[in-house]
Amino acid sequence: MAPFFLSDLLQDVFQKFELAAEARGQRLVADIAPGLPRVTADLAMMERVLVNLIDNAVRAAPVGGDVTVRLTPRGRGGIEVTVRDTGPGIAPVLAEHLFERPVFTGYAAAQETRSGGFGLMIVDRILRLHESTIRLLPQSGAGAAFQFVLRCETGP
Ligand SMILES: Nc1ncnc2c1ncn2[C@@H]1O[C@H](COP(=O)(O)OP(=O)(O)OP(=O)(O)O)[C@@H](O)[C@H]1O
Ligand SMILES: [Mg+2]
Repeated sequence: MAPFFLSDLLQDVFQKFELAAEARGQRLVADIAPGLPRVTADLAMMERVLVNLIDNAVRAAPVGGDVTVRLTPRGRGGIEVTVRDTGPGIAPVLAEHLFERPVFTGYAAAQETRSGGFGLMIVDRILRLHESTIRLLPQSGAGAAFQFVLRCETGP
């Protein structure tokens, strides 16, 4: 665990997806509140969380759609992370066990090889290790929105 700026990590991860998004005419939007403190977390694990969520969002969003990651302060000493897309969203029946076992529907069902399906389980496990929880927000309008809160670096 070490302190780092989540906004720096997000820019880095967005760069990885730039080509994929561009090829699909999608916008990657970083909506970052000013003056956010650093978080204390495992950098490599947190990268995995962002990569897995953004990968899903890019695959789910339509051509010309948006993937938005929002970083905002939450209470005292937390940063709220929301990853939102403009895809079809996730049916309530799927949502129930989404973080517990592999799920193959939606964009995944359209693929020929059904390897994987562990992305969200890994996100869930990593966030638990950080005493956080991944949540699927109730659907409002288009798309899926996943949210979690990370603890900030504790001041002196
Ligand atoms: N943003 C999203 N919009 C719509 N459906 C989603 C979204 N994220 C996940 N899903 C659904 O949840 C399933 C599980 O996601 P998960 O990331 O665990 O696996 P995967 O993306 O299929 O495979 P992997 O992440 O291992 O490449 C997906 O197959 C898809 O049906
Ligand atoms: Mg995935």
